[in-house]
Amino acid sequence: MPAKTKTVTAAGRAMWGGRFSGAADDAAAAFTASLNFDRALAAHDIRGSVAHAKTLAAAGALSDEECARIVDGLSAIAGEIRDGTFAWSPALEDVHMNIEARLTALIGETGKKLHTARSRNDQVVTAMRLYLRDACDSIAAQLCAARRRLAAMAGREAATVMPGLTHTQNAQPVTFGHHLLAWAEMLERDFLRIADCRRRINVSPLGAAALAGTTWPVDRELSARLMNFDSAARNSMDAVSDRDFVIEFNATAALLMVHLSRMAEELVLWSSERWRFITVGDAFCTGSSIMPQKKNPDVAELVRGKSARVAGNLAAALVLMKAQPLAYNRDNQEDKELLFDSVNTVAACLEVFTAMMDAVAVNRDAMRAAAAEGFATATDLADYLARKGVPFRDAHHVTGKIVARCAAENLGLAELPLAVMREFSDAIESDVFDCLSVDGSVRARNHSGGTAPDAVRAAAAAMEKRIAAQEKEC
Ligand code: ARG
Repeated sequence: MPAKTKTVTAAGRAMWGGRFSGAADDAAAAFTASLNFDRALAAHDIRGSVAHAKTLAAAGALSDEECARIVDGLSAIAGEIRDGTFAWSPALEDVHMNIEARLTALIGETGKKLHTARSRNDQVVTAMRLYLRDACDSIAAQLCAARRRLAAMAGREAATVMPGLTHTQNAQPVTFGHHLLAWAEMLERDFLRIADCRRRINVSPLGAAALAGTTWPVDRELSARLMNFDSAARNSMDAVSDRDFVIEFNATAALLMVHLSRMAEELVLWSSERWRFITVGDAFCTGSSIMPQKKNPDVAELVRGKSARVAGNLAAALVLMKAQPLAYNRDNQEDKELLFDSVNTVAACLEVFTAMMDAVAVNRDAMRAAAAEGFATATDLADYLARKGVPFRDAHHVTGKIVARCAAENLGLAELPLAVMREFSDAIESDVFDCLSVDGSVRARNHSGGTAPDAVRAAAAAMEKRIAAQEKEC
């Protein structure tokens, strides 16, 4: 980078270097540049500049003709960037100065008027908010798509019995549809958190200028409206300095990734030889370079693993903001890479996870067989005894004794003869076997939020209905 950066530095300084003599140190120039990563903001920077130009025209700071030339120039630049013909200049420090310099090259002196009543401080955070608002919208749509997939699958698997676990031990039988809807609930809360965080993102900083506002009579509500923001920020110092919206998004994203990692972990477990509950399609698995027989769930593992970097980005964003005095500090340039990384990671994980769910084949027999293991219907037996008038604590104790007897004789609960069961309690009658079967067990939990097939079908339909309403909102 040495010799080349020197020329570069001199060119970059031309934008703001009136009071400077000489070029910047090469290492310092390379160190402060952000073009490599903030290019991702190009379209949003242009959108902000168009709104700003129109607001300047409304304030009389630009003639209508000047405004039109600026807007046309910006739209030509947007085209160049889209086509890949835009000549990015590392000399110009960041995306904002690249676009402004190109505007002046394209339309002449009028281009230099665009930065009236604006600082890079309000410009950059405006672009960040526009970028993140778009990201929220597309992640919200992805979350709806993922939940749709899960709800449809839950409907199909409403009567598929599987072991429900606590402490990773068999606890009680549940239906696979119920399990899938638990995932969909987690993702619904993630959706709601994204929607909520979007409301606080959707505020316009423009007009805050460097920190103190502007001497120009710009209508800040107008520029806010032109960018579809809900309102203009109430305090210029707060507007340019706080990145709490980046932190909040990262917190939401980290939690979403924690949810995806839990789901991915279950896919990994279920597809192993120990469980064989599902097979994940070849398209989402990889082989081993040494063991020819291997089929590994690498995609699910990577989703699980990628949650780490988003949690890390949250920690970085928090520490970045901590102890920064008002107002703008260059520290804030560091908000970008971590934000882009979180957005890209969440988007990629949601896309691949949703597609992978279509490639999951369910082994219902293996699930059913496992559901009966570990005396999973013992609670049903205790409930049965309680219904027959045995106080629940006693019923629990008697059932525990019956379980111990079954364990000693290597029998399942439903396999113990009635006569033997009656040795423990004469409240037990022949109808006990209805509640000892895994199907009877899940059918009996037929209430809202319960695991019974009918309850799951109703919950899946309700989920789909909510998704339809939420999709309309986003
Ligand atoms: N690239 C910088 C950023 O991302 C632009 C802001 C520079 N502002 C300044 N006052 N030096 O924050």
